[in-house]
Amino acid sequence: MRILTGIQSSGRPHLGNILGAILPAVELSKKTGNESFLFIADLHTLTSLKDGATIRANTLSIAAAWLACGLDTQHTYFYRQSKLAPYHTELLWYLSCVTPFPMLANAHSFKDKSNKLADVNAGLFTYPVLQAADILLYDANLIPVGKDQRQHIEMTRDMAGVINRLFYNNFKNDFNEILGSVFKKIDNLNIIINRINSNFKFHFELMIEENKVFSNQILNEIFHLNEKIIAVNNNFLSRPSNIRLDNLDITILNNIIKISESIDSNLIKFLPESSYYGTFDHEDKVEFISKYKISNYSPFSVFVIPEAEISEHVMTIPGIDGQKMSKSLNNYIDVFLPEKDLLKQIKKIVTDTTPLEDPKNPDEDITFKLYQLVASPEQIATMKANYLQGGYGYGHAKQALYEAVLVYFKEAREKFDYYMANPNEIEAKLEEGEARVKPIAEATIQRVREIFQF
Ligand code: ADP
Ligand code: TRP
Repeated sequence: MRILTGIQSSGRPHLGNILGAILPAVELSKKTGNESFLFIADLHTLTSLKDGATIRANTLSIAAAWLACGLDTQHTYFYRQSKLAPYHTELLWYLSCVTPFPMLANAHSFKDKSNKLADVNAGLFTYPVLQAADILLYDANLIPVGKDQRQHIEMTRDMAGVINRLFYNNFKNDFNEILGSVFKKIDNLNIIINRINSNFKFHFELMIEENKVFSNQILNEIFHLNEKIIAVNNNFLSRPSNIRLDNLDITILNNIIKISESIDSNLIKFLPESSYYGTFDHEDKVEFISKYKISNYSPFSVFVIPEAEISEHVMTIPGIDGQKMSKSLNNYIDVFLPEKDLLKQIKKIVTDTTPLEDPKNPDEDITFKLYQLVASPEQIATMKANYLQGGYGYGHAKQALYEAVLVYFKEAREKFDYYMANPNEIEAKLEEGEARVKPIAEATIQRVREIFQF
């Protein structure tokens, strides 16, 4: 499973970014079997900031925050979007050309920003398309983001779907023409095509009817098709099964052929169980698609369709004024600030004017909401009781929140300071990630160019 998420470098990372995006992404990236792509969306930042030095400084602090929150660069692709700009922007263009204008014009974030900001540039308008490119370029499956990003992921899915359909329709015709004749000899054989590997070499799958017995001659014909075969699953003589053909190394191919010549009921077991997709007719796209979706592959696809991963308990974190915490609203809590400044920020949290002695409603108070995110269950229960009982002021609550933040982020704060004092280490880690991720981006662009025959 590929996990991918990005954070803009439009300011220093805040509590909302960390709890809403950074920590969930780092958690997911640690699960075995996951590959993660965690990056800094510094091209997106240009929609709001134009000063290179400021963007660079923010990039550094966002990178330090990722590292401080436990990102392990050995097992993660960690990079700046701008360093892969040719790929991101090329894909942005292809996607732009399949995106209906009203879809972008009606996007919540565009409407919000264009009402608020003085600089309503075209980049702001195409922002979701660049974001879709960020995601689709790396075949990502899961996108951990805050709730505000849900619509952007939906739009990404739509764009991927349009290109996938376009490709399917084009390819289906070509396929029938070119390969149809090869298989004509094999009666009752349904042929389906799928792209599973990342370099866009097609896999061909043959559906074989029950009880069909193949002569060696036919098997050889299948195997020699384009000299491509990847695998044959077990027992394909006795039940409907798949044969996959791909651009496999010729020696392996020869081995498969050799084995196939001595086939009886005992066929090679190449595919893992997860590769069995059941039976379907290649004309029956709907059923086919629904079957594949389960295993996260789309048939005939160029792009993987991603899903948003939004942690329900985190959702939207309020800022000190109760609105969504955001760099642009200047209502954030920067948990990496020196202690004195951090306390000052926390003290600015807006409260109502209930006097100290009176009971207070914890559910409507911002300090309590934030406390719930960083304190232990016992501490939360105690603060709640204090609120309800009265004689406990907001000043006390803020002091408790401050202390809880220091405890929760103790290790992260230390690491953050370390990285900020050693920017060369950050640079080296990013450069290394950028070199590793480049071939993946390149392969996707190549595959998309093929669709448009560029
Ligand atoms: P900002 O709104 O401060 O500019 P970004 O848009 O760069 O933050 O967001 C980066 C990531 O952090 C996104 O995944 C976003 O959903 C998440 N995020 C930002 N603010 C919050 C918040 N207040 N609550 C939860 N998640 C947030
Ligand atoms: N738009 C995201 C935000 O502001 C940042 C972002 C850019 C992103 N590209 C992405 C998030 C790709 C997830 C995946 O929060």
